Amino acid sequence: MTISAKIAGQAASLRKELNLYNKQYYQLDSPLVSDAKYDQLLRELQALEAEHPELETLDSPTQRVGATPIKAFEQVVHDVRMLSLANAFSIDEMIAFDRRIREKLDIDAVEYVAEPKLDGLAVSLIYENSVLVQGATRGDGQIGENVTHNIRTIRDIPLKLEGTGIPDRFEVRGEVFITRKGFKNLNDQAEKNGEKVFANPRNAAAGSLRQLKAGITATRPLSFCCYGHGLFPPDVLPGKHSQLLKTFERWGLPISREMKVIDDISGCLDNYDNLEQRRDALGYEIDGVVYKLNRFDLQAEMGFVARAPRWAIARKFPAQEETTTVLAIDIQVGRTGALTPVARLTPVAVGGVTVTNVTLHNADEINKKDVRIGDTVFVRRAGDVIPEVVSVVLEKRPEGSTPFTMPEKCPVCGSAAIMAEGEAILRCSGGLYCPAQRKESIKHFASRKAMDIDGLGDKLVEQLLDNGLIETAADLFDLTIEEITALDRMGKKSAENLIEALEKCKQTTLQRFLFAIGIREVGEVTAKRLAQTLGSLQRIIGVNQEALLEVPDIGPIVANHIVAFFLQSHNQEVIDKLVQAGIRWDDLNADSVEEQFLRGKVFVLTGTLKTLSREQAKERLQSLGAKVTTSVSGKTDIVVSGHDPGSKIRKARELNVEIIEEDGLLALLIPGSVSP
Ligand code: IVH
Repeated sequence: MTISAKIAGQAASLRKELNLYNKQYYQLDSPLVSDAKYDQLLRELQALEAEHPELETLDSPTQRVGATPIKAFEQVVHDVRMLSLANAFSIDEMIAFDRRIREKLDIDAVEYVAEPKLDGLAVSLIYENSVLVQGATRGDGQIGENVTHNIRTIRDIPLKLEGTGIPDRFEVRGEVFITRKGFKNLNDQAEKNGEKVFANPRNAAAGSLRQLKAGITATRPLSFCCYGHGLFPPDVLPGKHSQLLKTFERWGLPISREMKVIDDISGCLDNYDNLEQRRDALGYEIDGVVYKLNRFDLQAEMGFVARAPRWAIARKFPAQEETTTVLAIDIQVGRTGALTPVARLTPVAVGGVTVTNVTLHNADEINKKDVRIGDTVFVRRAGDVIPEVVSVVLEKRPEGSTPFTMPEKCPVCGSAAIMAEGEAILRCSGGLYCPAQRKESIKHFASRKAMDIDGLGDKLVEQLLDNGLIETAADLFDLTIEEITALDRMGKKSAENLIEALEKCKQTTLQRFLFAIGIREVGEVTAKRLAQTLGSLQRIIGVNQEALLEVPDIGPIVANHIVAFFLQSHNQEVIDKLVQAGIRWDDLNADSVEEQFLRGKVFVLTGTLKTLSREQAKERLQSLGAKVTTSVSGKTDIVVSGHDPGSKIRKARELNVEIIEEDGLLALLIPGSVSP
């Protein structure tokens, strides 16, 4: 063999290997080699190609890292026009769509294909002799832009197809998009570098694909999914759209895992409901579902209207982004004094709920978005995510508006607003002198994950404070039935219930108490760590900063907050009063902390318990070192069966897992009495 033949062979085999790794990594999510190994092989190939430029090929993985920048985009005339889709927003519109089809075709029921409507941008890819030779944007449907250099950087897109029956030249169409994770990483990075963040994954995908420098595109986490064809030799085109997609998949092109063949329109309606429910759990954003007539011959019979086919429709989800106007910007004072600007909006329906308020987070955020009173803004709400202002429609900004500035004083108590060094948050310096901070800290004290005082909601806390019945959380325990019934809309029964709930909350755990007293930066997890490691309140109060740093997950800032909290005499007084009122918990002495005798045991709780809530049982088990999970599996050690247990008991029996009842559980929770 000549030297050059040997080198050519080497390059070819490197290419094949790298292409395989690429596919495994990007399309199948199951990498075969480490990133380092991949990079090493890629560098080997780059070196070979640099030394022997004649070996370079269009399908070489080295093309993916970004070719030389181009000067401008060339125009591409699409052989077959790239169309858009008609939209449907209701069941009626879907039924009308189906009726039009069945009437025109004179058929009882037609088969459809469902595919998620990905929210990215449409592209056309041309393959010649199995090699990707052109990638173009949709443009106006007739003329798009040549973005081949950028398309080559997208790892989902095979540079060379594998398999049989591949036409000499054909066109694939699909969507370039960015996954939620990719979008988050991209924006985190942009933020870190002080660059502009993208408003949504769609914009990020479009911006990334329209780059003159492919080197930039190569760093963007673009994905691709194909959903159709353009130019394709009719003699080898399969009979159905679903078959064509399966064929594409065999050749190495990614198609949607959610692609479904559906018998009739009622199946389509079910499919939509199902996808809408799972929408937020998908790794990428979709704005609806596309339904297409499956048979190509019937598609042809249906034809087109204007720029959309009569054989397909996009059923859109309710909009997750809407515009509305900012009526006012108020400042809210939080439990720790944080001053949060909140925009009051003209009510608007977004993602199925009416939004009237939206947080603007802090001064930085307001400045960055430059939200002003009177502005028209885009409001977004995706799934359960809290609504947010995405951006301002500058064209609609009223004349003479001025940038919003944060106040210099707390709007509630008038104390100076201060921003600590290194913080982005402005805080009221009034501490518990500030009625707003007091209100919020008592609400927090009563909340479910803190002292869990049933019936003591935000409104009632406000009433109690406004009527001067309480000043601190400790005063709650001095309340009388008469005082409570004197309040607006409080009957005798509610008052009795509240007193009972206050009594009931007194038996608690150290971790709940630590969380409830509202030390800055001490959330549930930190409270738990403190309780587990130090065991008693006395020890936590007495300990210095150095010892706090020994507690897992506690860093200097949190340690500082803890020490500072207990140094304030006011806090000490409230704690003393709470303990005097009868709030109690079982301390863990340092020894029992060490020998948590349920360490490593896995518990599942099912059914209702009589003596304690499931949450309480869970906490106690955890404080003894046990893990409490929600489903029974081979790893479960013990299932606790309360009243009216569910299917978990059957599963436990099947798997031969030990089952105990409430008595057995209580015996375990009295340390040392029984060993499992
Ligand atoms: S089919 C003739 N299928 O939606 C049919 N389009 O509103 C042309 N899109 O420009 C498109 N997911 O960018 C089709 N599964 C899917 C799609 C999809 C997203 C986009 C595409 C198109 C736009 C039309």
